[in-house]
Amino acid sequence: MISSPRSKKETPLGRLALEDVTVRFGKSPALEDFTIEVEPGERLAVIGASGAGKSTLFRVLTRSVALAKGHIAVGERDLYALSKKELKGVRRRIGTIYQAYNLVPQLPAGVNAALGEVGGMSSLKTLRTFLAGPDVALAQRIEETLDRVGLAGRARTRTADLSGGQQQRVAVARLLVQRPDLILADEPFAAVDPVTTERVIGTLFELNDEGATLLVNLHDVSIARRFPRIIALREGRTVFDGSPEQLTEERLSRIYAGDPYGTAAEQDYEDQDNVRRHVEDPVRLMEGRDGISAH
Ligand SMILES: Nc1ncnc2c1ncn2[C@@H]1O[C@H](COP(=O)(O)OP(=O)(O)O)[C@@H](O)[C@H]1O
Ligand SMILES: [Mg+2]
Repeated sequence: MISSPRSKKETPLGRLALEDVTVRFGKSPALEDFTIEVEPGERLAVIGASGAGKSTLFRVLTRSVALAKGHIAVGERDLYALSKKELKGVRRRIGTIYQAYNLVPQLPAGVNAALGEVGGMSSLKTLRTFLAGPDVALAQRIEETLDRVGLAGRARTRTADLSGGQQQRVAVARLLVQRPDLILADEPFAAVDPVTTERVIGTLFELNDEGATLLVNLHDVSIARRFPRIIALREGRTVFDGSPEQLTEERLSRIYAGDPYGTAAEQDYEDQDNVRRHVEDPVRLMEGRDGISAH
């Protein structure tokens, strides 16, 4: 097990609670009255059409955009009320992985992986890591980590010279070095091959098994169905929050194309009763009994 020792002073991030979160770009809301709770260690897929607000949801969790309204609690902390220093501490515990890899292309793969660690080092040590390469213990950890993601011996390869799939594995290696409490993966499979997709999922699930809360934005519903909890966004609002079993084809078509104010309410109520008998945690279904909120 490759582990990154965590300072004893730091308390885990804890549960996420977003309440009535609204984000506007210009006039139109990217998130609107968005409310959700995520327990530590949950494994959550976020789906929804392009423009539904999925990436904005991730941006508010790192306080990267301003809120027009609402609150975000991370454990006991009010995320948008933290000092710069406190915010830095929280961000250090959040690991991100994006469709576009989010690496420094000019740096060797091993140094990009090391960036998972330098967030937690003194600035002097950070500088040394950049100038002289990672220290011996860190270098060994990075070698082991790259090995774990299928990139043995690539620590010195310039990241830009790796394929897209390999770059995404470097991003995963960075997570493994960082060992965050919360992982935000924004369409991490969009630009990678199926083998890398499986590797990335496997590693994200392992980190989740070890305690990290995992939120993944996906456009591939079949992958989302491998998550015990799925939420769907449409026009900045939650229109579904439930298990894969509850995510019926009819609901899916409404999430992606159909009318959320739907006409098949009767039939859906029956369907819902049916669902309630078969799932363990129907509480998560949103508002309307059909799981589609009626805003
Ligand atoms: N920086 C931005 N400036 C202006 N509009 C934005 C910006 N980021 C997102 N939006 C808009 O907010 C909405 C939600 O975007 P986003 O969260 O990226 O959706 P998704 O990730 O689901 O595709 C879209 O209408 C998008 O055009
Ligand atoms: Mg997006």
